Amino acid sequence: MLKRVIGAVGILAGLAAQPALADDPVVWQQIKVEAGQKLFEASCRRCHAVDAEDRQSYGPLLEGVVGRKAGTFEGYPYSKAMAGSGIVWTEAALRAWMEDNDGFMPGTKMRHVGIEDKTVQEFILAYLKSVSG
Ligand code: HEC
Repeated sequence: MLKRVIGAVGILAGLAAQPALADDPVVWQQIKVEAGQKLFEASCRRCHAVDAEDRQSYGPLLEGVVGRKAGTFEGYPYSKAMAGSGIVWTEAALRAWMEDNDGFMPGTKMRHVGIEDKTVQEFILAYLKSVSG
């Protein structure tokens, strides 16, 4: 009996010594980007491309959007609201945009997207950052 307990403790100690994958910041970042890509494909991709060779989308190209001034992807016919907004796509602005884009910027021509879940926002943001260089 005692031997068994000692054996079990030994196994648990061995497991504890293995760092959990999600504790590794690099692995965790990859997980977020991959989850974000899937969420982006499900919620944004039908209107937005992230690859310059695939510009024929209804919405503006989102490659490089993090840190970009809103309404400045050359050649895209933005709404007046977006073109004249003067905002910069910081992480906070992108979160607010995903949460309630037409509330954040009345007059935008992007149909309402209401992603309120902070984790989903976080994952999509990680993906957008990964395609922003
Ligand atoms: C139904 C189509 C559609 C969907 C779905 C959509 N968008 Fe958009 N998006 C647009 C359009 C159209 C614009 C241009 C808005 C304007 O000019 O007012 C835009 C603009 C943007 C901009 C501003 C880009 C710039 O160059 O300033 C960002 C950022 C953005 N969308 C992010 C997203 C994200 C993230 C998602 C998914 C959660 C998403 N969009 C889903 C159509 C869409």
